[in-house]
Amino acid sequence: MSGVMTERPTERLNERPPLVVILAAGKGTRMRSDRPKVLHELAGLSLLGHVLALSEALGCAHPAVVVGPDMAAVEAEALRLLPGASICRQERQAGTADAVRAAERAIMAHDGDVLVLYGDTPLLTAPTCRRMREALGKGAGVVVLGFEPEDPTGYGRLIRDEAGNLLAIREHNDASETERAIGLCNSGVMGFDARTLLSLVAAIGNDNAKGEYYLTDAVAIARERGLVVSTLTCDEAEVLGINDRSELARAEGIWQARARTRAMRAGVSMQAPETVFLSHDTELGRDVTIEPHVVFGPGVTVGDGVRIKAFSHLEGARIAPGATIGPYARLRPGAEIGPDVRIGNFVEVKQATIAAGAKVNHLSYIGDASVGAKANIGAGTITCNYDGFAKHRTEIGAGAFIGSNSALVAPVRIGAGAYVGSGSVISKDVAGDALALTRAPQSERPDWAARFRRRHERAEGATADEADTNGGDEEGERD
Ligand code: UD1
Ligand code: CA
Repeated sequence: MSGVMTERPTERLNERPPLVVILAAGKGTRMRSDRPKVLHELAGLSLLGHVLALSEALGCAHPAVVVGPDMAAVEAEALRLLPGASICRQERQAGTADAVRAAERAIMAHDGDVLVLYGDTPLLTAPTCRRMREALGKGAGVVVLGFEPEDPTGYGRLIRDEAGNLLAIREHNDASETERAIGLCNSGVMGFDARTLLSLVAAIGNDNAKGEYYLTDAVAIARERGLVVSTLTCDEAEVLGINDRSELARAEGIWQARARTRAMRAGVSMQAPETVFLSHDTELGRDVTIEPHVVFGPGVTVGDGVRIKAFSHLEGARIAPGATIGPYARLRPGAEIGPDVRIGNFVEVKQATIAAGAKVNHLSYIGDASVGAKANIGAGTITCNYDGFAKHRTEIGAGAFIGSNSALVAPVRIGAGAYVGSGSVISKDVAGDALALTRAPQSERPDWAARFRRRHERAEGATADEADTNGGDEEGERD
């Protein structure tokens, strides 16, 4: 076997993308969920999605995803995110070595490195995986990624000789007291040479406490065969496996901290980064400022120089350079905010294009709409886009001025440069440069209020009945 190893043209092989095998057949009962564990989300993306993204980052667009029976939703998620993924079904959960065996076909077809990752370990990074590949490139047949957890209980321990060579991995349940005192543990992430992996796995038995086929036994078998076995280490945070919802929250915290740091290093200012929540796909330009308490759902792109003021919630929105959003703004999917646009407090925008320099500054709902350049949408304007059955569009031309508290009943068009008087309910198209008004004309009765008050003052001396009658008289006086 080691002879085969030395024939390896190391440099060339290492340039080839690895095969990533993702183990995801576990049920994840501790999540106490109807959803398979790997479909729970971190930063708006499934745990599996994070591992698939890592696979892609490593150049492997055809990972083997090992799933259990009745995991159609997991299969669908894998294929949705990476159509090239090959789904491998493990009929019975007989252990991690058995899971790798389920990916036999993909491993046989591959020439080069194989990285075995877990679907529930989403924080692993590409640089660490590259270090594993480097070790394989230097001739290792097996590479183990170790770490020193705060509490090693439950993990496999790395058993080494005095020189630090890895001899075996002992699962917690099978370990002696002395072995349990070892702090260095197996993360579960392992690297192999594709040509030796299957024969190693074939030699693994299930004579252990759990009666399972342990992939970790590959280490001792590789040693017996004279293969080089290497160990690398990484931070605990990187190999945090998610078993329950508190671990999911912890992983979210680690992910967010990393993403905020990355954003700030790339030129984004945040006054209170710990209160800003990013999504797996948030794209932020240079000189973007994000004030405290801003939440990004998936699908947000922010251009250079944008300021997002406090307490705003954004998802599925594109914001062009120079725009100002919030405070307390809500951008929903399909919001296209043009350059230098101002979206103010308590404004909700959905499926709407707001062109350059337009202003929607206060208390408005703009949905299924287009707003032309430099239009001014007054406080409290509502696009009435939904009639209970279908959504309809509102089109507002460039430079239009919509007076405060107007309702625009879609489908409707306001021409360029038109004015809509405050408090109007607009249900018919308005021509460009016209003024549209729908409110009743204002009438005024001189001295009415003073007379009204006098009557009430008189009524205070009279009986309650009389006061009521007087009130009725006032109503009668109205028109
Ligand atoms: C495993 C390692 C242990 C390591 C720990 C790190 C083995 C034998 N043990 O233990 O050394 O310290 O991870 O977290 O490998 N899976 C399948 N099919 C199976 C069994 C498991 O797909 O039949 C998948 C699970 O979905 C999971 C991963 O493999 O993603 C690990 O399985 P799990 O049962 O959690 O292994 P541990 O006992 O935690
Ligand atoms: Ca586990």
